[in-house]
Amino acid sequence: MFLTSLELNRFRNYNDLTIEFSPQVNIFFGQNAQGKTNLLEAIAMLSLGKSFRTKKDDEVIQWGSETCFLKGMFVGEQTPETIEIGIGRAEKRYRLNHQSVKRNDILGQVPVVIFSPDDLQLIKGGPSNRRDFLDLYLAQIEPKYRFVYYNYSKVLQQRNRLLKEREVNLTELEVWNEQLVEKGAKVIKYRLLFIETTIPYIIQAQQQISNSRETLTFEYIGFRNQVLTNMSEEDIKKLLQEALITVRHSEIERRVTLIGPQLDDLRISFESGLELRIFGSQGQQRTATLALKMGLINKIKETRDEYPILLLDDVMSEFDDGRKRALIENLINSVQTFITSTSRNDFARFAYISDFRTCFYEIERGALKIG
Ligand SMILES: Nc1ncnc2c1ncn2[C@@H]1O[C@H](COP(=O)(O)OP(=O)(O)OP(=O)(O)O)[C@@H](O)[C@H]1O
Ligand SMILES: [Mg+2]
Repeated sequence: MFLTSLELNRFRNYNDLTIEFSPQVNIFFGQNAQGKTNLLEAIAMLSLGKSFRTKKDDEVIQWGSETCFLKGMFVGEQTPETIEIGIGRAEKRYRLNHQSVKRNDILGQVPVVIFSPDDLQLIKGGPSNRRDFLDLYLAQIEPKYRFVYYNYSKVLQQRNRLLKEREVNLTELEVWNEQLVEKGAKVIKYRLLFIETTIPYIIQAQQQISNSRETLTFEYIGFRNQVLTNMSEEDIKKLLQEALITVRHSEIERRVTLIGPQLDDLRISFESGLELRIFGSQGQQRTATLALKMGLINKIKETRDEYPILLLDDVMSEFDDGRKRALIENLINSVQTFITSTSRNDFARFAYISDFRTCFYEIERGALKIG
């Protein structure tokens, strides 16, 4: 699938935009604060149904407006698709091929992999960065996971609400415990399977980029730093049940759920066991983030039999030539790519790109000029 055209209406600094794209490389260049990232955000939103930059989706509505609208036309081997999103201050509406649908129905229709300067947080930042990463890509690969996760988050919300009450009703808590274990084990099971099946792709990418034999290890970390390997759902349930007993008193004291997949982590280490987050050099950490994303691209291709769209926000300048080559030679010829940069010159020495169907767009204050 690739994006053939995009329409934006009062989306961030885009007033009214209609634009067509190359099925291969699209380069957006322009000075700071002109709307380059906004454009990638809009493209990602059509695929994910939400912004990758903010949790508050109404931030994308143009200042002074009450609503905004996005429309993307996609073509591929299957039938063409139109995805439309309307955002108001209190609600969002989605349409797929002119039919009203829910967000979960458009999520993953067109898979997308995003590279951004914040990616280093995947390695260096807190566990929520890695959980979000797992969840975002799992949802694109495994349609069922969207519901599995949604069901769990509803239970978690209810249980936390109960724990906030002045007098916690223990019989009621028991009911939510059962649900928490049941639904939580499913989320964890999906994540474990995803990690197990994606690791070989990531390791392959990492070796390709760094030209080394050094292998990274990935471990799913559950309650009390326990490493969970790909175990059965029943075994995960048992672990959660046991953990719930251990935290019973602290939960009531602290009025919040203290176990479950909303707190887990993905630990990335060198073979020696030393954590990349703490002991990796900046370069090793960058290589790992690139490998994570490239591994995912190949995993998506393998699972869905099509490549995702690639969004590269301002990252080319951060990669050295070896990493650039790994990225470009491996991907750009088969994948639709959108790249932002502050200077067109960044690409002048990109001999690699010239073979492809490359479109240049200059962005100035929310307007695009084919450059
Ligand atoms: N809701 C909004 N309504 C109108 N304008 C907005 C809104 N949100 C952000 N902007 C403006 O959009 C402009 C462009 O933002 P964007 O992040 O796309 O810039 P950029 O071209 O990627 O810049 P940089 O090179 O610095 O990353 C900013 O000036 C910002 O103030
Ligand atoms: Mg930007």
